[in-house]
Amino acid sequence: MSEIESVLKETRVFPPPPGFSELARIGSEEEYHDLYRQSIEEPDLFWGRVARELPWIEDFHTVLDWSDKPFARWFLGGKLNASAICLDQHLTNGRADKTAIRWEGEPGDLQTFTYAELHQSVCRFANALKARGVKKGDRVAIYMPMIPELTMAVLACARIGAAHSVVFGGFSAQALRDRIEDGGCTAVITADGGWRRGKVLELKKEVDAGIEGLDDVHTVMVVQRTENEVAWRDGRDVWYHEAIEGVSDECAPEPMDSEDLLFLLYTSGSTGKPKGIVHTTGGYMVGAYLSSRYVFDLREDDVYWCTADVGWITGHSYIVYGPLANGATIVMYEGAPTTPHPGRFWELCEKHGVTVFYTAPTAIRTFMRLGEEHPARHDLSSLRLLGTVGEAINPEAWMWYRRVIGGDRCPIVDTWWQTETGGIMLTPLPGVTPTKPGSATWPFFGVDVAILDENGVEEGPNQGGLLCIRKPWPSMLRGIWGDEQRFKDVYWSDVEGCYFAGDGARRDEDGYFWIMGRVDDVINVSGHRLSTMEVESALVSHEKVCESAVVARPDEITGQAICAFITVGQEVEVDDSLRTELAEHVAKEIGKLARPSEMRFTDALPKTRSGKIMRRLLRDVAAGIESAGDTSTIEDYSVLAKLRGHED
Ligand code: WTA
Repeated sequence: MSEIESVLKETRVFPPPPGFSELARIGSEEEYHDLYRQSIEEPDLFWGRVARELPWIEDFHTVLDWSDKPFARWFLGGKLNASAICLDQHLTNGRADKTAIRWEGEPGDLQTFTYAELHQSVCRFANALKARGVKKGDRVAIYMPMIPELTMAVLACARIGAAHSVVFGGFSAQALRDRIEDGGCTAVITADGGWRRGKVLELKKEVDAGIEGLDDVHTVMVVQRTENEVAWRDGRDVWYHEAIEGVSDECAPEPMDSEDLLFLLYTSGSTGKPKGIVHTTGGYMVGAYLSSRYVFDLREDDVYWCTADVGWITGHSYIVYGPLANGATIVMYEGAPTTPHPGRFWELCEKHGVTVFYTAPTAIRTFMRLGEEHPARHDLSSLRLLGTVGEAINPEAWMWYRRVIGGDRCPIVDTWWQTETGGIMLTPLPGVTPTKPGSATWPFFGVDVAILDENGVEEGPNQGGLLCIRKPWPSMLRGIWGDEQRFKDVYWSDVEGCYFAGDGARRDEDGYFWIMGRVDDVINVSGHRLSTMEVESALVSHEKVCESAVVARPDEITGQAICAFITVGQEVEVDDSLRTELAEHVAKEIGKLARPSEMRFTDALPKTRSGKIMRRLLRDVAAGIESAGDTSTIEDYSVLAKLRGHED
């Protein structure tokens, strides 16, 4: 409630800066409203026109088929190749010698690739994969540091029609294994290691452990990055630099059906194992292309930097596919934001002349804490547009971002979307939308969004409800890999006929959307989605743990932090070494990002009489507030009292 009240008091409005709108791709509210209206009322016309801005191998005959709800099919009959859209078109449209990627490693090493060079590298990579027997329809796991070869690997898969399943390099061997098995991946692309906070992250080692005994994985292609020693299995493992030796730098792009699988990306839901979110080729590319173009207002001379990792959806859509489809120059950075010094991001902005900068609220809050003196040491005058994604940004951080990084001159686009939506759904358009700090403002084109109650009735102004999408959009997920029923249950069953993926929101009297956070058991730590269930099952898989309940508690920097309530066996001693042991265990099962920031040991967990753990109560305990809600179903009051620390 307190959060809702505080945003209710937000009355500041920032119109697009003078001068910005005149040059913007969309520069007036009328234009936005006209296009938006068309995108909703005449989707065939709108999306047909937008899609044909991209080069298709074969034109589509039908824009949308929504007869088999909730399975939408877009651009039927069309054939295209995502890598050709990102690369080949630019060889003949004047961008061949334009810089596609400016990359910097954490140690400060540099590489740049023009579109022509990137095209060659991707073709060679694709041919090397083909030579290993990777073919159309296969799934390839990619587990890499943020090096140019990661982008190349993604595009090389797309080029030959193999779907990629990128697994963030921070995940553990076990998490990687689960995803490889679920997706049925037959090849893995990795690196010996990557640089992170001055240390080598040994990725190949994790892969070796992760695929032990998985006989279906016939190839592990390894990019040499850190030159650390790696174990080797002959026949299965190949060095990338050897595999591309003498290989042709031409590889015709595989014509893909619009609805052919482009990639899987795993994400957490409130229950069960991670879901392999299915994205197909045509709709996804159209969505990524259009949203990049208008939300980031991409112009020919922009230097665009999205600080996400390609391992997340933000990296897929707004490092690789969207910006490259637009022929933009992108910056990629390997390392941590504060290595080797707290001003690293700002140094990079200055050095590479970044004009459009897209990052996460958690990073902004970290920089706020570190102090203004760090950005102040760098000339940030090249910046013209700022963006955020991943979680709600608090108005204070928004104002800091605007003033300290944006010099009060750059518009901020706070973009709400999800792995499932494939692209940005709620966002200001920088040349159009008067922004309010903390609000993701208005729907993007084609997004028919509403705040509904469980019965599908629209809520009034400022009434909180479920954030739902009523009509299909091109870049929407097509399903959960291998689980049709779960797709229907998870996304289409809360509100009849609507897509709902877990966020609560309200719309204010001016029609602005304010995201109020997840309504399910998903925790958002630093913009990374984790399910409480997954962390709990990691904890209870440790021999000393009997039971655990994991909840989110508010955190100033990371947005939310993981608080675990744990019961252990009677003979187990609770001390710091147990804490370390359990943290390590969670890191091994899922990855370091899932380690609880707080563990509270308790004799028992508060439960209802039917045996359900009362998470709502635990959330209050974790946040240090007295529960105001109904506790009448609690089985044993003393448990709660003990947890709160007063044994009355
Ligand atoms: C949250 C990341 C508030 C939200 C692209 C959503 C946000 C989840 C915002 C998706 C935002 C993302 N304001 N909340 N601008 N952007 N979220 O799948 O809870 O990693 O459901 O996709 O992040 O996380 P995901």
